[in-house]
Amino acid sequence: MYKIVKKERLNDVVELMEVHAPMVARKCEPGQFIILRVGEDGERIPLTIADYDREAETITIIYQIVGFSTRQLAKLNEGDEITDFVGPLGVPTDLHKSNHVVGIAGGVGSAPLYPQLKKLAEMGVDVDVIIGGREAQYVLWADKFKAFCKNVYVMTDDGSLGEKGFGTVKLQELIDNGDPIDEVIAIGPVPMMKAVVGVTKPHNLKTMVSLNPIMIDGTGMCGCCRVTVDGKIKFACVDGPDFDGLSVDFDELMARQRMFKEEEHQVDANADR
Ligand code: FES
Repeated sequence: MYKIVKKERLNDVVELMEVHAPMVARKCEPGQFIILRVGEDGERIPLTIADYDREAETITIIYQIVGFSTRQLAKLNEGDEITDFVGPLGVPTDLHKSNHVVGIAGGVGSAPLYPQLKKLAEMGVDVDVIIGGREAQYVLWADKFKAFCKNVYVMTDDGSLGEKGFGTVKLQELIDNGDPIDEVIAIGPVPMMKAVVGVTKPHNLKTMVSLNPIMIDGTGMCGCCRVTVDGKIKFACVDGPDFDGLSVDFDELMARQRMFKEEEHQVDANADR
C-alpha cells in the first residue's frame, strides 16, 4: 500500500498528490510514468510522474478528475493509502545538451513537462516555457517554472492571465522572431500537440511529444496503447511515452481515444445511480 503524504487542489478539476513510493522514487527519471489502482477491482490509471523526491521517497502526481476512476482517487485524502502504484514505467526522456529548448504545455501537461525542463536547465540548456490554459485557474505551475526557465509565457483562451490566445500563437511568434530553437517539447491534450506540430513541421524543428493513449497493462502485452509513428506500430507504454511529434499519426490516435467514449459514459452513469 502506498500512503498519500500530501494532497492539494490545484483548480476545480485538477488535484496533486505526493505518494510515498520508495522503489519508484529511487529509480524514476523524467518522462516516465506510473500506473495506480484504487481498490482491488479498480481501473488502472496511468499518470506521468510530475516530480520526485529521492530522499523523502515520494512521487508527485497530478490528475484531472474526469470520470469514475479519477473520482475514486479524488475521494482519498492525506494519510489514506493507494492499493497499487507500479513504476517507473516507460522510457525516460532523452534529455541531451543543446542551446535552447522551448517547452509548451496545455492543461495538466505542465506536470510531466516540469521534470524534463528542470533537468535540461540543470544541464545548462536555455529553457523557455509556454503554458496554456482555458482561463487563469487552468494555468499550472507558472511560478515553479520561473525558478529555472529564462522566459515563462502564459497564454489563456480568455486573456484572464498572461496573453490572450493559444500557446501555439506564442510559439509561432518565437519562431518568426528568429529565436534559434533546437527543440520543442510539447505535452498536453492530443489536439494541442497536433497543433504544435502544425507550427513546427514547416520549419523541420525537432518536436518531442508525450503520448497518453488508453493503457491497460503498461508492459507491452495488451497492445491497447498502440500508436503509429513514422508508419510503424509502437506501444506508448514501452516504446514511449515520448515520440518524435513530426512522425506521429495524430488523427489515428484521436480516433482511438474516442473509441470507448460510449462505454465510459455508461460506467459513469451506473456509478452515479
Ligand atoms: Fe498494454 Fe501498452 S498498455 S501494451
